[in-house]
Amino acid sequence: MTQPTTLRLAADAAGAARAAEILRAGGLVAFPTETVYGLGADAANPRAVTGIYEAKGRPRFNPLIAHVASVEQARREGVFSRQAEQLAEAFWPGPLTLVLPLAATSSVCDLARAGLPSLGLRLPAQSFARDIIAAAGRPIAAPSANRSGHVSPANADHVLADLAGRIDAVVDDGACAVGVESTIVALLDETPRLLRPGGLAREKIEAILGVALAGAPSQQNRPMAPGLLASHYAPAAGVRLNAETLQPGEAGLDFGGRFSGPAPIFDLSPSGDLAEAAANLFSGLRTLDASGARRIAVAPIPGSGLGEAINDRLARAAAPRP
Ligand code: TXA
Ligand code: MG
Repeated sequence: MTQPTTLRLAADAAGAARAAEILRAGGLVAFPTETVYGLGADAANPRAVTGIYEAKGRPRFNPLIAHVASVEQARREGVFSRQAEQLAEAFWPGPLTLVLPLAATSSVCDLARAGLPSLGLRLPAQSFARDIIAAAGRPIAAPSANRSGHVSPANADHVLADLAGRIDAVVDDGACAVGVESTIVALLDETPRLLRPGGLAREKIEAILGVALAGAPSQQNRPMAPGLLASHYAPAAGVRLNAETLQPGEAGLDFGGRFSGPAPIFDLSPSGDLAEAAANLFSGLRTLDASGARRIAVAPIPGSGLGEAINDRLARAAAPRP
């Protein structure tokens, strides 16, 4: 039922009701979360989930995160170990996705999980996202609402720039507060693993679990996090990391006021605050890309806390393109 024109819905009760109605009917609705905008579809409906891949132009099926409106709903979908209980208690709702063994009572279709016996579950902090999911009355599968390989959307205009005419609606609730995707932790055996750094710092998770997070199992176990391939989050311009100064023809993605001169410069955080930098990251990449610069030079950014996710996304943006 994808429409030739994409509705822009307000973030109010009527907008939530309309969004839920479209989702229940198998349509595609982009909606705001505190991390980035998601492209939602009924996770139990394989036809609706196929629509996500078509709209994004994603070449192959990656498992999608199932978004839920409450912990009770999450318990019907995934099997919670003691560690999963601890992390849900500490950080949900919030920018943390838990990959858990699939529960026998789960309604999520095989296609949404790419056939895996596990499920990524997320309870977003943005209350409006939870309102839509609750009104839809089922888990909502949602990757980031961008064309495959593009920079993730941090506001509704970013969504429409990529997906206008390819999806039924976008709910506009302004800019995302966190700005990078959720941190993904797999709890499938005794070893908790960090599959993707994101909007919740690794240090906070390790403090609750009392152990260090292991890395993703290496290549042979892909698709442990099959979406996490090198060139991803890519602007059209080239990207040069750890730049001390700007070279001719470069635009500057700055941190802490290092760059100066006539070239386009976007400072992620003039005061050097990592949370502010994360919230501005994808807007900054899009803004500098739109300036027409040949290359984007990125100032050095510390790797601790949210800096781990920021540097991860920038390394992917700078990776050789296929
Ligand atoms: O913040 C976010 O997580 C956003 C918002 C919309 O919630 N969503 C998001 O989705 O970033 P996406 O599809 O761009 O990234 C989801 C990642 C993919 O790399 C996928 O491989 C991984 O999660 N994933 C999902 N289910 C998984 C599973 N069962 N096992 C391993 N990895 C999984
Ligand atoms: Mg994505």
